[in-house]
Amino acid sequence: MRMLTFRLLENVPKALRIGAALLVAAPCLARADGLSAALTPPMGWNSWNHFAGRVTDADIRSAAEALVRTGMRDAGYVYVNVDDTWQGKRDAQGVLHSNERFPDMKALADFIHSKGLKFGIYSSPGAKTCAGYEGSLGHETQDAQLYASWGVDFLKYDLCSFRKEMQKASAAHPGDPDAAKNLMIAAYKKMGDALQATGRPMIYSLCQYGVDEPWKWGPSVGAAMWRTTGDIHDSYGRMTDIGFSQEGLEKFAGPGQWNDPDMLEIGNGGMSADEYRTHMSLWVILAAPLLAGNDLSRMSDGDQHILMNVDAIAIDQDSLGRQGSRLHQSGDQDVWTRPLSRGRVAVGLFNRGGSPREVSFDLGEIGFAKGAAVRDVWKQKDLGSHSGVFTGTVPKHGVTLLIVGP
Ligand code: GLA
Repeated sequence: MRMLTFRLLENVPKALRIGAALLVAAPCLARADGLSAALTPPMGWNSWNHFAGRVTDADIRSAAEALVRTGMRDAGYVYVNVDDTWQGKRDAQGVLHSNERFPDMKALADFIHSKGLKFGIYSSPGAKTCAGYEGSLGHETQDAQLYASWGVDFLKYDLCSFRKEMQKASAAHPGDPDAAKNLMIAAYKKMGDALQATGRPMIYSLCQYGVDEPWKWGPSVGAAMWRTTGDIHDSYGRMTDIGFSQEGLEKFAGPGQWNDPDMLEIGNGGMSADEYRTHMSLWVILAAPLLAGNDLSRMSDGDQHILMNVDAIAIDQDSLGRQGSRLHQSGDQDVWTRPLSRGRVAVGLFNRGGSPREVSFDLGEIGFAKGAAVRDVWKQKDLGSHSGVFTGTVPKHGVTLLIVGP
């Protein structure tokens, strides 16, 4: 595909070629001012879901190497994000140092960049992070500049102990129901502005569990993505509670601004292959950021196939940038659709029940009254032309993911 693009561009004047290249690179060039930060949902890996508070510099390096070795980088997973617990102490000037598990953050960033990857980091607007490490309260500008000097490309900013400041604001202004909310938005804007002022493009990712509808104000603080819920766990129950509850948020997503139903658990061992296919299918229909959260150095072939299914990734990264929504639900059947470029539609036929069952939809319902070509994403197979009712036999907790189009 990439070869083909370059061949086509050979006949295009150079100025236009440079313009096209800038357009392709735009997601990486600008910080979050809505449109330009992430024209498609960011993809990469984050340390938390597998390593949590035990993560080390060596783990991050081996994840970066695995992204290259497995082909995940070339499939689009380019951010390597260190989550909570990298922080050490501040010195007399207030400059934050990493702890003994991360001897040299600049060297780590250089290593990640040398692999053609991007480097993400984590902090909190509070005095302490969720794991009790040093947060950015009162040091926002200093920390943003430190990140820029290391070569950081992505910041996850997690509410955590800032809730204490919010409680204080509510207590101080009992007549103002918005006091806590306004303080929180101001704190997120403060870091957003500080990142912007560094001049280094960094994707700004809000993590405050959906408190006070961040999808409504995230873009105004410079964010390219915002968590919509509390934390995911590696279980079918928790994953589907989150995924199937995203209905209604689709109107707030688009190029440069993404709802984030939390990071992926694929490969962490708590779900069956069908359940992980459901996880990936739901997330790509939701146009979610795809941040793998497993131990990439020991990933099974099956998990690799789920994370690297080219059609699933293409749905997630579709250039229209429209988040999908529920078409209908009946008992254990849940059917979701996502409009795609070139008049196509992704359709997820989910079986939420405990035994195999048939799940159906009518092609007429999604604009193909005269029929359309159907491709099965997980079987990697064109199913030919269909019209009227399409029925998939779906295993328990599984999915049939289709791309339907002219
Ligand atoms: C919160 C976040 C998680 C993770 C942890 C780290 O719970 O929601 O994604 O970053 O903090 O402490």
